[in-house]
Amino acid sequence: PSVAAAARLARQFDYPSPQLQRGVDEFLRQMSEGLSKSGATLSQIPTYVTSVPNGTEKGLYLAVDLGGTNFRVCSIDLHGDSTFNLTQSKVPIPRDLMVAPSYKQLFQFLAKQVEHFLELHHNEHFETTVRRRRMTGTTDQYRREEIFDLGFTFSFPVHQTSINQGTLIRWTKGFDIPDAIGKDVCSMLQNAIDELHLPVRVAALVNDTVGTLMARSYTSPGKTETLIGAIFGTGTNGAYLESLNKVTKMDTSKGADFDQSTGNMVINTEWGSFDNQLSVLPNTEFDQQLDAGSVNPGIQMFEKRVSGMFLGEILRRAILSLTKDPEANLLQKNGSSIPDTSPLYSVWGIDTSFLSAVEADTTSDLALTKAALREHFEVHDPSTDDAVAIKTIGHAIAKRAARLSAVALSAVLLDTGRINTDETVDIGVDGSLVEFYPKFVDYIREAMREIKGVGEKERKVRIGIAKDGSGVGAALIALVAHKSNVGQP
Ligand code: BG6
Ligand code: GLC
Repeated sequence: PSVAAAARLARQFDYPSPQLQRGVDEFLRQMSEGLSKSGATLSQIPTYVTSVPNGTEKGLYLAVDLGGTNFRVCSIDLHGDSTFNLTQSKVPIPRDLMVAPSYKQLFQFLAKQVEHFLELHHNEHFETTVRRRRMTGTTDQYRREEIFDLGFTFSFPVHQTSINQGTLIRWTKGFDIPDAIGKDVCSMLQNAIDELHLPVRVAALVNDTVGTLMARSYTSPGKTETLIGAIFGTGTNGAYLESLNKVTKMDTSKGADFDQSTGNMVINTEWGSFDNQLSVLPNTEFDQQLDAGSVNPGIQMFEKRVSGMFLGEILRRAILSLTKDPEANLLQKNGSSIPDTSPLYSVWGIDTSFLSAVEADTTSDLALTKAALREHFEVHDPSTDDAVAIKTIGHAIAKRAARLSAVALSAVLLDTGRINTDETVDIGVDGSLVEFYPKFVDYIREAMREIKGVGEKERKVRIGIAKDGSGVGAALIALVAHKSNVGQP
């Protein structure tokens, strides 16, 4: 009975062609609205990055990355021949810093990680600049050539006012630190770095999607310019190269203070908040429950149906509903298979790695799924039927997510008109869903072929992983920022 009930429930996550098409039409409408005015549902944020790299860029840069599963510090040596060396360290962000009354502790934690990183990986430089200065008590300024330029990948919606300035619009992905809203993100980090007297200048502020776009463009095969950088991980979002003349909300008069010579502007769409008003997005009872229990109800409605942080929670709620349904009787063998302490009873108790593991299980009796149920959820004796039921629902939730992802990507392909040229269109992607969920990109492609105007042309689209790309991308943008500062005092 659990298998039949699960199949019925899974149908709620069907997202057939006509809905897909309505999604694309509405996405296109919201894209153009976002380019014409501030405060629209799709933020369409100009990033002040006006071109993408071609692989010849060179130099040693630092980058830090906040907003994915881990906080990372890296140094990137760009060789100028489409290759680079990356040295990095990763740490998870302590939960008590993500939801806190003040931003200070979070940024002090980040600066401390930068200090550890320099000591560990650039000790010679640390020795000659930081440690000696500390020992002699000198407070002299560092010389310009002693200072590292740092690209700050900060993967939250930021109202950017220049390449290294921008204020936080809102937190997403479970972060909630109210006093950071409206503050300049680079200054918060720079102040914490300065408290430690480190020779580091926060030179560029970058969304992870923009970093991914830049990194993919630097390394992309055949030096093809990349059109879109997208993340399908804890959160989801995309950035793309837009014609400046379509960004009508920007001041592009002669006096405007940025390089307009390329005629382009990289736009951070913040598509996680596509259709917050739910005019076209699917909305099952589980989506509604998840939203009501989140820190930001009514916001990031697309992201809550697509990205890793939320898919496990949708599945958890669906599983629980079938455990309570006497007809389905899921995981109820012997009356007490789920102990009260099981993470199945905690909000956010399932993460996407569980969905990926279950989807990847091709054993005939779903032994791996049963093992995962025992290990993660303390379920003592799951039956094969239970495992099949859970796999069916997990698959349906993830497939809907991939089809929704196709809505966003196809809309950008159509909006820019790039799908109608003869050239290959390159898309760089990153994040735990595209990296670990089996066939996620295949499901995206399948849905793209159903969309009017894309169809067969889907074959011209190349989607490639830009693994850990945003660090490299941040370095590339720090490089551009550095160049534009040369000559200034
Ligand atoms: C990482 C990037 O590889 O992927 C981050 O460096 C990005 O900038 C992250 O945010 C997204 O994936 P996830 O799954 O860690 O959220
Ligand atoms: C969230 C953030 C966005 C980021 C995305 C992927 O949607 O708001 O800025 O790019 O997650 O990490």
